[in-house]
Amino acid sequence: MKPMADYFVPWLKGQKMYVSSHIELAWKQPELHRMMSNENPNPPSKKVLEAIDKYARMANRYPDQGLVVRGQIAEINGVAGPENVMLGNGSSEIYDLIWRSLVSPGDEVIQHTPCFGIYKLRCAAVGGKLVSVPMIYRDKQLEFDAEAILKAITPKTKVVVIANPNNPTGNFMASPDYVRIAETGVPLVIDEAYVEYAGLERSQVGLTKKFKNVIITRTLSKAYGLAGLRFGYLIADRDVVATISAMLIPWNVGTISMWAASAALEDAAGLKERVRFNNEQTMLIEESLSEIPGLTVFHSYGNYILFDGKATGKKGKDMVEYAQSRGMIFRPQGDMYDSDGWFRITIGSEEENQMAVDLIRDFYLG
Ligand SMILES: Cc1ncc(COP(=O)(O)O)c(C=O)c1O
Repeated sequence: MKPMADYFVPWLKGQKMYVSSHIELAWKQPELHRMMSNENPNPPSKKVLEAIDKYARMANRYPDQGLVVRGQIAEINGVAGPENVMLGNGSSEIYDLIWRSLVSPGDEVIQHTPCFGIYKLRCAAVGGKLVSVPMIYRDKQLEFDAEAILKAITPKTKVVVIANPNNPTGNFMASPDYVRIAETGVPLVIDEAYVEYAGLERSQVGLTKKFKNVIITRTLSKAYGLAGLRFGYLIADRDVVATISAMLIPWNVGTISMWAASAALEDAAGLKERVRFNNEQTMLIEESLSEIPGLTVFHSYGNYILFDGKATGKKGKDMVEYAQSRGMIFRPQGDMYDSDGWFRITIGSEEENQMAVDLIRDFYLG
């Protein structure tokens, strides 16, 4: 008899369930301040809570295919209609669906590092080969390297994924570079999880009208503040949406999430206020910390800020440990570019941001 282990697809060997240790810690110790996972510090609005309450009372019913919310998304983004939009259980599920639709075992997925970790995990889950193209670190900036991405494309490349703006670096790749990559014809996934903070003017969604191979992904986990509800979506050409939608697990987005998302999307004033708060706080933090000698602050268009403290002589991992000793969870970043000084914070409430600034100053200057 063959052992059970031999029946699994070979690329699952050695893979483990993704568990985010800092999120586990935060739920276990709710007294700690969560400045690590790019969540929104403000709880859902009254309108969203009303929608949740209304549809919770109908939780005995299956959801429909979400034409109403897909129509809203199409309208907000200036695309033709719901047929250009597919819904996911967070945008993390959207990457999974795209990779599963395009990547066979041995095919390549190109990502631009440092970047969001789920692209890699979902690539491993389909037996894909991950190709990481590093950004360029010079003059205290992490710059996109479109040339290197283009060079990395091979006949086996099935996806190029780039975040607009990127996490954790907080910046945007120049628009003409997106066009150059799109012109290769290779599927280009542009992850716009944070684009609302800078405004939809910075979105590349217009490219989906010209290029069938461009797919935009979004989430309501960030500026809309609904990470726990798990609602994301993609926008693309209608034929592309129809094909990827064939991969969907039926009823993947529940009624409550769908209608809560609809209420949040309708509340343009609510979004504007969340964005204003975030951007004002980002500016304050960046200004307060920019005078620490040796600490590089990466200007962010998202709800997080990346730092490199190598030139201070102190390690990023020690910064994160020190923050935790003072009640705050920061996000460690692995060593890169010959530096062990990296860490990232998420914008919190006003009080949390002040606490974070104080403790970062104490750590480096104290
Ligand atoms: C760049 C980027 N994309 C996507 C996501 C995933 O968001 P979700 O799965 O909650 O929609 C995140 C979350 O941190 C992110 O940083």
